[in-house]
Amino acid sequence: MADRPYIVGNWKMNGTRAMLSEARAIDRSSQRLMKVEVALAPPFTLIHAVHREVEQIGVGAQDCHAAEEGAYTGDISAAMVADAGAKFVILGHSERRENHGETNALLREKSAAALEAGMRVIMCCGETEETRDEGKAESFVTRQLKASLPENLENPADVLTVAYEPIWAIGTGRTPTVDDVASMHKAIRALLVDLYGEEQADEVRILYGGSVKPENAKELLSADEVGGALVGGASLTAESFLGIVLAAAEVQDQ
Ligand code: 13P
Repeated sequence: MADRPYIVGNWKMNGTRAMLSEARAIDRSSQRLMKVEVALAPPFTLIHAVHREVEQIGVGAQDCHAAEEGAYTGDISAAMVADAGAKFVILGHSERRENHGETNALLREKSAAALEAGMRVIMCCGETEETRDEGKAESFVTRQLKASLPENLENPADVLTVAYEPIWAIGTGRTPTVDDVASMHKAIRALLVDLYGEEQADEVRILYGGSVKPENAKELLSADEVGGALVGGASLTAESFLGIVLAAAEVQDQ
């Protein structure tokens, strides 16, 4: 696995310029925690401002359109978010799959657009509670991922991160057991090896997301094959987000 844990804050539809001070505080403290790679994905409207504000941490977008340009009112292309300062795009978040009807096929197109624009992709996947209860979580997630990921990727280790986010754990305060997380991440790793070959697939980080907090971060980040976290609610203040970054640094030291 890639050596540095990757902690990414997904601000979702939160934040105005008043929140730039949080980004600044996260950036300043991250400069003292170089063994962890830290990034924020603010809403589109703040990408440029956060990018200008920070020195150390990465800045990304939460979505992009699949087309290069054109008559798509209200949409934003990969080249546009890259121009604003985004170095990566989160794609396939369950909130977008659900609220915007995003299909695996569309996500494959979006990831190609993001890569073409020179950005990295964080591809999300995750099952509903019903699917988990039926014992089909791993088969569902690996199928979903296989259909969403870009095909014929030459250098996945450089451009791809996967985020496993069980839908029932997002914003609920509930998390899977460490064993369940490890088992899912192992299944995802096996899929990546199938798709891209062992050497490349081994270096792709697989993040866990869903109710990660400073209090549970160490345990979740210690699970086998967990290369970091995708954090929603707890990334909105520097205090809680840095608690998670610190936990990642501690796990790294173990
Ligand atoms: P929470 O951390 O708020 O559960 O959100 C997780 C998530 O969806 C990150 O993308």
